Amino acid sequence: MSTFWNIWIIAFTAITIAGCTWLLFANRKIEVSSKNAEDAEDGEAPKTGHVYDGIEEYDNPLPGWWFNMFVGTVIFALIYLVLYPGLGSYAGVLGWTQTGQWQEEVDQAEAKYAPIYEQYASMSVEELIANPEAIKMGRRLFNNNCSVCHGSDGKGSYGFPNLADSDWLYGGSAADIKASITHGRKGAMPAWGAVIGEEGVDNVAEYVFKISGREHNADKAAEGATVYATYCAACHTPAGTGMAAMGAPNLTDGVWLYGGSPSLVRHSIRNGRNGNMPAQDNKLKAEKIHLLMGYVYNLSKNQ
Ligand code: HEC
Ligand code: HEC
Repeated sequence: MSTFWNIWIIAFTAITIAGCTWLLFANRKIEVSSKNAEDAEDGEAPKTGHVYDGIEEYDNPLPGWWFNMFVGTVIFALIYLVLYPGLGSYAGVLGWTQTGQWQEEVDQAEAKYAPIYEQYASMSVEELIANPEAIKMGRRLFNNNCSVCHGSDGKGSYGFPNLADSDWLYGGSAADIKASITHGRKGAMPAWGAVIGEEGVDNVAEYVFKISGREHNADKAAEGATVYATYCAACHTPAGTGMAAMGAPNLTDGVWLYGGSPSLVRHSIRNGRNGNMPAQDNKLKAEKIHLLMGYVYNLSKNQ
């Protein structure tokens, strides 16, 4: 914080408290004004003489408890500002900080849950999926960290793979899933529009429809077969069944990460696709990733 704002905040706070105190004492009324007391009728409380729609104002002092409550808030503010941060960059005698409190709570939670995570960390994936408590913890972690992209049911959406089926871009073994979560994945489908031209895109798309068993234009598909062998087979394999090491999807199974309509498939081919699964190892501890792996494995197994 700059010196100016530091002084500004300290001055502003001090003036506000002093102003409130002044206001409180300046308007304090302990005694009834003698004139109003004289004017009061016998047995009646003295009045100020102000009348609003027939309602008269008594000339009573502020009740003591009410007045003291205001004094109390001022004293509270002064003590608070000595103990806690509030006056500019002054840290307060107690040294309390938001991050400190947060860290303390995190440390407490970690101390509480560490033994539980540890117990699961040594379990194999088979043991994990047979353990309902482990799956429940995995689900909670999934909802907090993964569902924004993969959906709360793990079924994904456009551009975000379904984790609850048996179709995998990068492999579905426990080790593959763990690697996907830990280190993240970057899909790299190059853009082919400039290389093979719009006609090439159209032809090879028809060929992709052919190998996925869909309706297609046979002439265009025959042209596309050559394009495919030249430019696509290296990643998607000659048969089109995909390659986990490249993250290149199976093009024959009718499952489409980016949509299977003719225009979307042509779009994938023409413009390329670059899905990004963010690495979690800088965010989540290994034990949590282990539980997440078990949860995802279980999702796809129980499809
Ligand atoms: C910012 C969005 C995002 C978040 C958050 C995210 N993912 Fe992903 N994830 C993706 C994308 C996109 C891909 C596909 C990458 C590609 O197209 O190559 C992916 C791929 C995966 C894969 C590989 C799927 C396959 O078919 O091989 C797994 C497993 C996975 N994510 C699990 C998780 C888990 C578990 C979490 C939570 C810790 C998570 N993801 C959080 C976007 C995300
Ligand atoms: C360098 C490797 C590589 C080459 C070469 C390549 N692809 Fe891909 N392709 C990928 C990857 C990786 C993805 C997935 C991208 C992602 O996950 O974001 C992909 C995705 C696709 C998709 C989208 C699939 C879906 O499920 O939505 C289609 C269609 C496709 N490729 C067709 C082709 C065709 C046709 C060619 C040849 C012209 C080709 N690819 C060449 C790596 C490649």
